[in-house]
Amino acid sequence: MRRISPVLQQDGVDSDLISLIKTILAACREISFRVSQGELAGVLGSTLGQNIQGETQKKLDIIANELLKEVILDTGVVKAISSEEEDDTVAGNPDGKYLVTFDPLDGSSNTDINSLIGTIFSILPAQADKAAEDASQFLQPGSAQLAAGYVLYGPSTMLALTTGKGTRLYTLDKTYGGFLLTEEQAAIPKYTAEFAINMSNQRYWQPAMQAYIDDLLKGKEGPRGKNYNMRWIAAMVGDVHRVLCRGGIFAYPRDTKDANKPDKLRLMYEANPMSFLVEQAGGVSSTGYERIMDIVPTDIHQRVAVILGSKHEVESCVAYHK
Ligand code: AHG
Ligand code: MN
Ligand code: MN
Ligand code: MN
Repeated sequence: MRRISPVLQQDGVDSDLISLIKTILAACREISFRVSQGELAGVLGSTLGQNIQGETQKKLDIIANELLKEVILDTGVVKAISSEEEDDTVAGNPDGKYLVTFDPLDGSSNTDINSLIGTIFSILPAQADKAAEDASQFLQPGSAQLAAGYVLYGPSTMLALTTGKGTRLYTLDKTYGGFLLTEEQAAIPKYTAEFAINMSNQRYWQPAMQAYIDDLLKGKEGPRGKNYNMRWIAAMVGDVHRVLCRGGIFAYPRDTKDANKPDKLRLMYEANPMSFLVEQAGGVSSTGYERIMDIVPTDIHQRVAVILGSKHEVESCVAYHK
């Protein structure tokens, strides 16, 4: 099995970008180790703090954030970082070539129940005309991403990574200490009969989403003509990983539950990197109205509705929004 560097070299990835990716993965290996130690490492439970998203921070949110921030800024090739757990962007080397955005710990509510969690990251090109302190340099559409990936801390620790040459899956070999290529090219089946959505929000969705899910629930007798199954892991990394492995549709649509927060998922830390991975595996990612990677962000912590996965199913869902 092949290690990461030769695969990325073969894909023609810049050597600085390869070492940046490897540095991020080194931090993820450390997070993976601490996560696997659970209560023994004293990493479970909540802190007294809240993040800018209005969420109570788990100890692991903070630990993962600090680890990633430190090693990424230490590389010297990064001009600034932006994280779900940081109010503002953090400046690095003014001459750095890259910007990194990340969700240090996705699926925080799963930490205390020993269930799936992960880290999501995205790498953008730095902009020469902007200062390292300038947050506006991050406001680039997802289509500008140079690389995106997630590390899933599951029964095995897995990495999904794209640099625009397809989406590859790697598995952490804990004896050797590195990630080995275990799936050369993830390919999301175009058709599916599996959906993932938090059904408890149904009454708050827009009519288009309500009508779409209603039709799925009608099964064989309904307009879609087949029975659907449902899954919900409550960690986007887990749900997207399943979609990459065997297809499906994952949605966190707009809702009216909280007037100040119509959309839940974060564009720069969650939606864009996942959209890049999904598209590079032959899937589709949309808000219902537009391609997610076409959105030009107006704020680093911007939220967005997400509908992604199997091409035919996402297109069917989008058709309800017309
Ligand atoms: P995070 O833990 O990084 O804040 O993200 C949680 C997100 C996402 O991973 C997941 O799909 C969704 O929140 C779950 O939301 P519900 O609790 O509403 O199901
Ligand atoms: Mn959070
Ligand atoms: Mn998240
Ligand atoms: Mn998070």
